[in-house]
Amino acid sequence: MRPILLVGSTDAMARRIHAVLGEGVRERLRLWTQPIAETGGIDAVLWTRPAVVVLGPGLVDKVLLRLAQAIDAADTDVEVVVAHSGGVDTDAALAAGVRGLLVKTSDDDTIRATIGRALVAAERHAAGETMAPPRQTAVSSGKVTTVLSPKGGAGKTVLSTNLAVGLASVAPRGVVLVDLDLQFGDVAYALGLKPRHTIYDAVAGAGPLDITTLKVFLTHHASDLYVLCAPDEPHRGEMVSVEVVQQIITLLASEFDHVVVDTAAGLSEHTLATLDLSTDVVFLADMDVPSVRHLNKVIRAFDRLGMKKAKRHFLLNRADARVGLSMLQVATQAGLAVDLEIPLSKQVPVTLNEGVPIILSDPKCPVSRKVWELVERLTDSHVSPARQPLKRSA
Ligand SMILES: Nc1ncnc2c1ncn2[C@@H]1O[C@H](COP(=O)(O)OP(=O)(O)OP(=O)(O)O)[C@@H](O)[C@H]1O
Ligand SMILES: [Mg+2]
Repeated sequence: MRPILLVGSTDAMARRIHAVLGEGVRERLRLWTQPIAETGGIDAVLWTRPAVVVLGPGLVDKVLLRLAQAIDAADTDVEVVVAHSGGVDTDAALAAGVRGLLVKTSDDDTIRATIGRALVAAERHAAGETMAPPRQTAVSSGKVTTVLSPKGGAGKTVLSTNLAVGLASVAPRGVVLVDLDLQFGDVAYALGLKPRHTIYDAVAGAGPLDITTLKVFLTHHASDLYVLCAPDEPHRGEMVSVEVVQQIITLLASEFDHVVVDTAAGLSEHTLATLDLSTDVVFLADMDVPSVRHLNKVIRAFDRLGMKKAKRHFLLNRADARVGLSMLQVATQAGLAVDLEIPLSKQVPVTLNEGVPIILSDPKCPVSRKVWELVERLTDSHVSPARQPLKRSA
């Protein structure tokens, strides 16, 4: 069995990893004790044919990424997890081919899930992707659509709330929106909801989580959409582990036709875990070249990490001819094909403040029409403007 190699670890981290891993996985742990400060040492590490290399946190953060890049460049089926001291940027890590990130404060569940996922990915690579998909994916039946952007404020919450409401008009009571912006999620605000329960209740409850219990924590929206809201206090969000998020998404996908996931800015461990379960990913970028280029880097990193299962939809938000860039120019410069262009609209911030998605308050305006197009892409159906719902209050 190929080992899990701890390279440049600290005693404390090595002990924690050893303690949290299950028995079958724990026996694959090996500690690399030779010096590894520079990338030359990586060849010796790779000679041991590891499945997963956990780099750090006993090395300088800058060195960690250089080592990760060296492993990535060697083009092996080794997966890398980086344990750092807070100085490693998630996007840069993804671009260096890193599969997961750990920090000092990562809880036991996160450590177990991050190394576990890396191990599964390494084995899938080694088997040429022929292994069965993870169990969660096999039991899921509904579509899981994750909305993400590397940068904050790109319009994820506006898009995911409107998209979920649009999907609910095609599949009433068959859609659930999950607010995975666990610290500062504002889906409830955008939908004018005052939730009695949040995702925190799913974590705080005693006993194993099942779909019946989970449904109690959902909030019903007037558009016949269900919402799993983010905790009302940021510190409660920190208590929601990656493993629980995976469990929640899996349970919801087994019950609902569509699970739409709004994410926090950037690529948190929770977002990465959700991406593993997603059938569709909506990449959102602002209408400027750096923003799109940034996104392009992330998409390439996804390719390198083998995250190719989900169907990708690339959207430009706040598209406005006045910025002097055409969609074609942006796409060409970024090397990406744009699927949809959502126009800039003064109505959008107003609807956000009123808590009524624009797709409800003005279903035929240019922004709403683009959201309907996305609904069609995700449902393989035609939603003619005439069949689209009339103005409704939330
Ligand atoms: N097409 C648009 N036209 C005009 N304003 C928009 C548009 N899309 C989003 N906005 C505005 O941009 C701001 C950010 O939108 P939103 O909160 O959806 O972004 P986000 O990606 O969820 O941000 P965060 O990363 O902080 O969660 C809001 O004020 C919203 O009203
Ligand atoms: Mg948001």
